[in-house]
Parts: sequence; structure tokens; C-alpha cells
Amino acid sequence: MLVVAVVVMAPGRAAAARSLLSSASGALWAANLDLLSGVEIPAEIAVPDGHSLHGGIRAEGHQHYQFNGTAWVLTNATAKLYNSPTGTDAVGRHFFLEEPDALGGQPTWETINEHHLPALISAVTANSVVAHPVDPDSITWNLLAATSHYGNAEEPLGPVTFVQRILTRRGLPPSTTEGVSTGAIHSSKYYAVYTFYVQRR
Ligand SMILES: *[C@@H]1O[C@H](CO)[C@@H](O)[C@H](O)[C@H]1NC(C)=O
Ligand SMILES: *[C@@H]1O[C@H](CO)[C@@H](O)[C@H](O)[C@H]1NC(C)=O
Repeated sequence: MLVVAVVVMAPGRAAAARSLLSSASGALWAANLDLLSGVEIPAEIAVPDGHSLHGGIRAEGHQHYQFNGTAWVLTNATAKLYNSPTGTDAVGRHFFLEEPDALGGQPTWETINEHHLPALISAVTANSVVAHPVDPDSITWNLLAATSHYGNAEEPLGPVTFVQRILTRRGLPPSTTEGVSTGAIHSSKYYAVYTFYVQRR
């Protein structure tokens, strides 16, 4: 497997990312950088030049499929987002917009800062650019490009330009379609880490 420079392993880059993150959005991101240390990002899903790592977030949820008579088709994903490797207090959620946005984006990440009154929401919607299989028993690692934002235009998700789905576990549809009736639905538990990038200043 081809790999590019490790995203957060190089000490210089790690330090830069860490200070950018802590100055930008504090606790939401900082703890999650631990999730990324030592992770090699396959070249296939590398973010274009000019964008730098902004943070990462852990997700736990479900990929939802419907059988259309021929194949299991992904219809939605719903997951809670956590700001630490083991924490159980969600800081946001991941889901598909009911309808794609004007640029075709549908997967959406939304954070809610309840410590701020009124609660601050920030969100990014993105469209998949590349899906790259890494583990045959898990959903692909993906590169997605941001297509729209809503809520707070600032931190943490307002400035996001690219999203990666990495470190996936499970989430695949059933391996068989035999005897399945058209319209049947299946929700498949999955785990992933989403990394967020912004335009380099
Ligand atoms: C079912 O989904 C597959 C994969 O997306 C597609 O190729 C096929 O045309 C769809 N079939 C129907 C009946 O919609
Ligand atoms: C996905 O699920 C979320 C949460 O239940 C819902 O708000 C959204 O409309 C759903 N999207 C689609 C495409 O069904």
C-alpha cells in the first residue's frame, strides 16, 4: 500500500496541528489527536496540497442499507461523535441530509457546543471524492470534499474544506442478497474516525 507522509507523526506537523487546534476550538479536538498518532493515510485518499489537518473526531453508529431488488444500497449513516478516544459524552452527530445539497453533498457532520449559550452549532456537508478499501470486513476509507456549511461559520466545522473517513471497523451490508425481499432494510454497526482539514493560512 502506498503511503504519504504520516499526518500527525512528524513532530513539526504534530506541533503545528496541535497549536492550531487548541487555539481554534480547544477541547473538542485536542484529545482526539491521540487517535491519529501513528496513522498512515493511504495516498489514494490524501488531501490536496494547500489544506492542513484541523482535527479528528471518533464516531460510533450505524450504516443503513436498503435492498433494491439487486443490491444493498446505502441510504443513510447515523453516528454520534466523540472528542476523546474513550469518552461517552457526544459532542455532535453524523448523518445524511434528507436531500443532497446543491453540489450533491449529503453526508453531514454537526457539532453542538452546549457550554456556549445559546448552544453553538457548526456543520459541514461533503461529497465523496474517493473510496479506498483498506479492510475487507469494514467500510472503505474515504476522501470527501466539503460542499456546504450551516450554523456557526467559525469553529470548529465552519472552515472545513475536506473530510476523511479513516480507521473504519465493520459497517458493511449483509454479504448475501439471497432470499431478501425488495425494500428490506439493514442497519450495520460501525466505528470510524473522521479527520477535518482547512485551507492552509
Ligand atoms: C440497485 O442498486 C444498484 C447499485 O447502486 C444499481 O446498480 C441498480 O441499478 C439498482 N437497481 C434498481 C432496481 O434500482
Ligand atoms: C438520516 O437520518 C437522520 C437522523 O435520523 C435524519 O435526520 C435524516 O433525514 C436521514 N437522511 C436520510 C437521507 O434519510
